[in-house]
Amino acid sequence: MRKRIISGLVLACMSILPTMAQWGRPVDYFAGPGLKDAYKDYFTIGVAVNKGNISDPTQIDIIKKQFNSVTAENAWKPGEIHPKEGVWNFGLADSIANFCRENGIKMRGHCLCWHSQFADWMFTDKKGKPVKKEVFYERLREHIHTVVNRYKDVVYAWDVVNEAMADDGRPFEFVDGKMVPASPYRQSRHFKLCGDEFIAKAFEFAREADPTGVLIYNDYSTVDNGKRERIYNMVKKMKDAGVPIDGIGMQGHYNIYFPDEDQLEKAIQRFSEIVNTIHITELDLRTNTESGGQLRFSRGEVKPQAPYIATLQEDQYARLFKIFRKYKNVIKNVTFWNLSDKDSWLGLGNHPLPIDENFKAKRSFQVIRDFNTALDNATPKDDWVPNPMNQPGQEYPQVNSEGYARFRVEAPDAKSVIVSLGLGGRGGTVLRKDKDGVWVGTTEGPMDPGFHYYHLTIDGGVVNDPGTHNYFGSCRWESGIEIPAPDQDFYAWRKDIPHGNIQQVNFWSESTGKMQTCNVYLPDGYGKLVKGKNGKLTQERYPVLYLQHGWGENETSWPVQGKAGIIMDNLIADGKIKPFIVVMAYGLTNDFKFGSIGRFTAEEFEKLLIDELIPVIDKQFLTKPDKWNRAMAGLSMGGMETKLITLRRPEVFGYWGLLSGGTYMPEEIKDPKCVKYIFVGCGDKENPDGINKSVEALKAAGFNAEGLVSENTAHEFLTWRRCLYKMAQSLFK
Ligand code: XIL
Repeated sequence: MRKRIISGLVLACMSILPTMAQWGRPVDYFAGPGLKDAYKDYFTIGVAVNKGNISDPTQIDIIKKQFNSVTAENAWKPGEIHPKEGVWNFGLADSIANFCRENGIKMRGHCLCWHSQFADWMFTDKKGKPVKKEVFYERLREHIHTVVNRYKDVVYAWDVVNEAMADDGRPFEFVDGKMVPASPYRQSRHFKLCGDEFIAKAFEFAREADPTGVLIYNDYSTVDNGKRERIYNMVKKMKDAGVPIDGIGMQGHYNIYFPDEDQLEKAIQRFSEIVNTIHITELDLRTNTESGGQLRFSRGEVKPQAPYIATLQEDQYARLFKIFRKYKNVIKNVTFWNLSDKDSWLGLGNHPLPIDENFKAKRSFQVIRDFNTALDNATPKDDWVPNPMNQPGQEYPQVNSEGYARFRVEAPDAKSVIVSLGLGGRGGTVLRKDKDGVWVGTTEGPMDPGFHYYHLTIDGGVVNDPGTHNYFGSCRWESGIEIPAPDQDFYAWRKDIPHGNIQQVNFWSESTGKMQTCNVYLPDGYGKLVKGKNGKLTQERYPVLYLQHGWGENETSWPVQGKAGIIMDNLIADGKIKPFIVVMAYGLTNDFKFGSIGRFTAEEFEKLLIDELIPVIDKQFLTKPDKWNRAMAGLSMGGMETKLITLRRPEVFGYWGLLSGGTYMPEEIKDPKCVKYIFVGCGDKENPDGINKSVEALKAAGFNAEGLVSENTAHEFLTWRRCLYKMAQSLFK
């Protein structure tokens, strides 16, 4: 019996605490629609592939489910496919093309002309002497025609010329020993031999061979101000001269800090002036500050990605894709450069992709796929007020009437600031430095109403937000914020009613060998002399509710963030309940480590509560010291304690309540007469079915049971405030 109750509790808690259950369990972020399907109304989703990717069944499955565009990572590059005059390596190149043909996936042809991995033999004759540009063009034409004709049936777009423009940061350069203003063009062998004419020629050859394919100029660092303009000028000049350039490829070798949305938008807008097709051709996000397509970069130490870095990466992917979606009219494809972190050309240490080195999706994958169109176009209402929990004089954090929260943190030398609060399924809200060097940010959407714990993570270190007060949760004092709730009046201070008070009681606990603390709510009028039945003046005695907090919390949680005292005052003032005492004691939950919850018995707390605390309360206060005037209820892990203890010791408590802490079923209760009232409740984002089933079953079995499914809330204090408000009205009747 005992075993069954405990495993039932574990199940209840696991389903009720979805996020907590995830702590120990790997989550399958692939579960759900394919990326390509999520983006079917936006653009195609591509991936660069190597031989391994199309040889292994797991990887093949990923490619088929998630992507509808493929780029050969290296196999089609001139130096690979055409290393010598008359020598062609079609082996791998054909395998990739055939893989795509067989699976109905279209390809981006990468790339026909590039300074790197190029067929350098084209520049010299048999004796090693430089050839004239006419010879070079002839060879380039033959190369382009051969490749394009072989694969154009499966290719929808070609990176015709790759990386022909110079990088930023070089206003001057040395040419033949002389310092001259830097050319807008990369000083490649192609350029030195032909000037920019080679670009025009390559596009002309490609158009001859493929009259309908989309012809792209592809480059990196396209969001840098200088390079953006150089690319713009070159493409414009070419197009004005009739060169068949259809689109611009923005490679997208970015990082978790760069680019910001403005920079990216500026580039997309600028290029949209001259082309109606942009492809994001080679997306990956390094976890350092490097970016670009140069072949020199740091590979980083191979170690697991720190959680806060993962959050920064998720956020950056989310921001970039939001912009990509915004410009879906011009952006026609987004391609990840490599399938997984294991394949990344940047090395394992950079962790740049949404799929990890074991070919499992990271949370960033889910963040990219499961976007919310409503939030894409949402602008928070401009009626911000300081969060009611702020420290005196602090303007931030702020909340608005829709439930958004915004933050402002001064940390001048920090590299990253993350607020742990954000929409569900995300690691929080990543702040960005504003023009004054202050970190600011707004939650991506409205938060659930009510109280939320949160903290800041600054460069990986966890600290509290100096703007707001601290509340005990997560086994430490955390920052807290209060999102306005539609029903907030039931826990609001009212000036026109009498108020009870909360006393701190300290007592020696023999069983734990230390002093223990609890907070005791005493209703207004407590201790006053009133006329008894016999006409004599006497002091009234009260029933007692023992009300437990959850894991990570303590005896302060119900009185402070739970607002238990205010809720009681309001209920009493409105005549909804007769006054009673509420005891909020520390429930010993915090010495218990997560992960071993299946072994939790609440035996230590049972001893403390029944043998030590109740006697102290009954001695020090005007209680009615019997079972029919004693209730026990608890939230979350305090609910587990309540369930275990009430079922084991039904002679002590006559009213039982579980708040996001599991349920009772009739068969668990030996003697149906031992309890007068049972309450179970949780948020509608938890396990409402469990609550409804339990209430139904209890009622059918003749118990006096009641439930509450709190609207629009999860495993948080507004759920429990609402539960207390409802449950209190049925106690001691
Ligand atoms: C990279 C490949 O991923 C590497 O395997 C290879 O060693 C070098 O080239 N810009 C481009 C891609 O256009 O072709 C490059 O691919 C990455 C930068």
